[in-house]
Amino acid sequence: MITDERIVTFINSLDTENSKILEDIEREARASDVPIIRREMQSFLKVLLALQKPASILEVGTAVGFSALLMSEYAPEECRITTIENYEKRIPIARANFSRAGKEDRITLIEGDAAQVLKRLEGSYDFIFMDAAKGQYIHYLPDVMRLLSEGGCLVSDNVMQDGNVIESRFAVERRNRTIHARMREYLYELKHREELVTSILPLGDGVAVCVKQNAAKDGMPARINYNVEKGKCDEEKT
Ligand SMILES: C[S@@+](CC[C@H](N)C(=O)[O-])C[C@H]1O[C@@H](n2cnc3c(N)ncnc32)[C@H](O)[C@@H]1O
Repeated sequence: MITDERIVTFINSLDTENSKILEDIEREARASDVPIIRREMQSFLKVLLALQKPASILEVGTAVGFSALLMSEYAPEECRITTIENYEKRIPIARANFSRAGKEDRITLIEGDAAQVLKRLEGSYDFIFMDAAKGQYIHYLPDVMRLLSEGGCLVSDNVMQDGNVIESRFAVERRNRTIHARMREYLYELKHREELVTSILPLGDGVAVCVKQNAAKDGMPARINYNVEKGKCDEEKT
């Protein structure tokens, strides 16, 4: 845990209940060890959606549909949600949960590996929620940037990897070094891309919130590439 447990418990104790369907699905998911967004992340998403009022949402990582359903309750009525999942065992449960909630018309579940699905997707989304394989976020980024509308919000969950991301690569177990390097590269990219304004917050297991703005705007810093091998940015500006 990257945050103080007592503080999080206190903050979460102030929360009001979710709708019955969300409470039921959350309980079922936790009972069967399906990873879903934490309580504090739920509140944060509700606030972001109230600010952003998206007309379209893309989620990477459906699991059993909990966060998609939560977002459907807090986004405007006409908002359409597309969500991607590749784990066959979870897909039918997510579909059943969407129809249980009467949301099958508002939420489209695309089955498959997000890397492939994202390449095929067209159009634009006002809100993108990344909550799948953390080591892949950096690979999804070019398509995510293409799909994110101007003024759109990109939210990436679990970016602190239980605090591992702040450690030197030599302090991280060998088998976790690739994911460690990829997450650092991802965070660096989010903070240094000229078209993104980004804040990384120690909420839950770390969340990065970005807003896409017009890259051609005057006064924006030039992009500097992060070099994973060197562990620092390249001098040359692109
Ligand atoms: C943390 S769970 C998502 C939880 C969900 N957003 C919620 O809070 O209700 C991550 C999900 O991403 C899925 N996933 C992981 N890698 C994926 C990939 N490459 N393509 C599609 N889904 C993937 C996993 O199977 C898992 O169900």
